[in-house]
Amino acid sequence: MKVDVLLGLQWGDEGKGKIVDVLTPKYDVVARFQGGPNAGHTLEFDGRKYILRSIPSGIFQGGKQNIIGNGVVLDPLLFKQEAEALAAGGHDLTKCLSISKKAHLILPTHRVLDAAYEVSKGDGKIGTTGKGIGPAYIDKVGRNGVRVGDLLHDFDAKYAAAKAKHEATLKAMNYKYDIRELEAEWLDSLNYLKKFNLIDSEHAINNYLKEGKSVLAEGAQGTMLDIDFGSYPFVTSSNTICAGCCTGLGVAPRNIGEVYGIFKAYCTRVGSGPFPTELLDETGETICSNGNEFGSVTGRKRRCGWIDLVALKYAIMINGVTKLIMMKSDVLDSFEIIKACVAYSINGKEVTGFPYEIDDTLEPIYVELPGWETDMTSIRSEDEFPEEFNAYLNFLEEELEVPIEIVSVGPDREQTIIRYTED
Ligand code: GDP
Ligand code: IMO
Ligand code: MG
Repeated sequence: MKVDVLLGLQWGDEGKGKIVDVLTPKYDVVARFQGGPNAGHTLEFDGRKYILRSIPSGIFQGGKQNIIGNGVVLDPLLFKQEAEALAAGGHDLTKCLSISKKAHLILPTHRVLDAAYEVSKGDGKIGTTGKGIGPAYIDKVGRNGVRVGDLLHDFDAKYAAAKAKHEATLKAMNYKYDIRELEAEWLDSLNYLKKFNLIDSEHAINNYLKEGKSVLAEGAQGTMLDIDFGSYPFVTSSNTICAGCCTGLGVAPRNIGEVYGIFKAYCTRVGSGPFPTELLDETGETICSNGNEFGSVTGRKRRCGWIDLVALKYAIMINGVTKLIMMKSDVLDSFEIIKACVAYSINGKEVTGFPYEIDDTLEPIYVELPGWETDMTSIRSEDEFPEEFNAYLNFLEEELEVPIEIVSVGPDREQTIIRYTED
């Protein structure tokens, strides 16, 4: 068996959580491979809404194993809050969720450092989620990190050494903070974490594959936020791309199967950084309000714009996407005209490859397509698609050269249309 990967092709929040939940019945195991509580993955079913941050989105389909892989950075306190809220709602995870011993811990001082680095960047700030993601990954790469497995031995010394380094940095930055209360709660939450199965997830996943079990890897963030290929430096600190699944779970490249690339029928971004098709006008506002485009973790308003096929083609290339999933089609229901960016004009020159630098000289080049002006939210079958919607899908498939297998027309699990049956 191989691992199928589902990942975002834009700047995050494409709807990964919803589709992982929809696809989970086909799989035995669902695993997160990177990121941490910067993610906010929303699922809706039976009139209820859940937002998952560190916990994989396969937990609601019953009987599935879920894994937090080594590539994830885990804040035990936020994890405890998330898991306890789920347990209170009847979803006890201690039997169905395992955590890699090699996953790195986000310490209270990482959160403080995240804030301090943002302040030090002034106008150039990234607009992080403030969850300590960057500093935790810095420590991982700098070989100063504290891992989940350290909870089982020598934790106190490792924690004290890391904390002392952070305190020295914060002192040098002259950054004032008080984490006494947070730290006490954080230390207390470590006991909760120990109730879970702490495992060598690379062995577990490879054993599952050998036993013929199917695994779905759930990406966080999106390709344009990838540390290497995203709009650097306005990115997150992990590899959000398909290759991140290999390093974040211990899966060999030849064991990757389908790569599901998920995108919105338009585009959004939260935080700072370039966004070529951003709409700072009424159209952008309409997309924002129709799509309820507010961050699920931070509540921040998401920037909105038309779909960007230059960036999407780049993301499809980097990830080797085999199947596409288009989300939030219903958000464009009211538009008479829909635009799609097919190239950029940079200093009067037409560019179709995603460029190294994006600055104010870049102008998107759009094609216009007729809108469907139909309420899509109650559509449940492809036969009911309006003609203009089919034309939009055909146009995208021709441009992107990958089939759009799933179309989403609303936030609920049921509002999902599978277009092609399995080969
Ligand atoms: P993720 O981080 O990729 O899992 O995405 P988020 O959960 O952060 O953001 C997606 C938002 O869109 C959530 O509020 C979902 O409930 C919502 N959503 C998902 N699919 C659809 C859809 O097809 N239509 C609409 N209107 N909302 C959707
Ligand atoms: P999901 O998984 C959208 C953005 C932040 C910021 C940048 C760096 O829900 O799609 P970080 O806290 O990671 O250091 O912030 O990345 N960002 C996201 N944007 N969706 C996410 O996750 C994001 N996770 C981080 O807004 O611009
Ligand atoms: Mg999200």
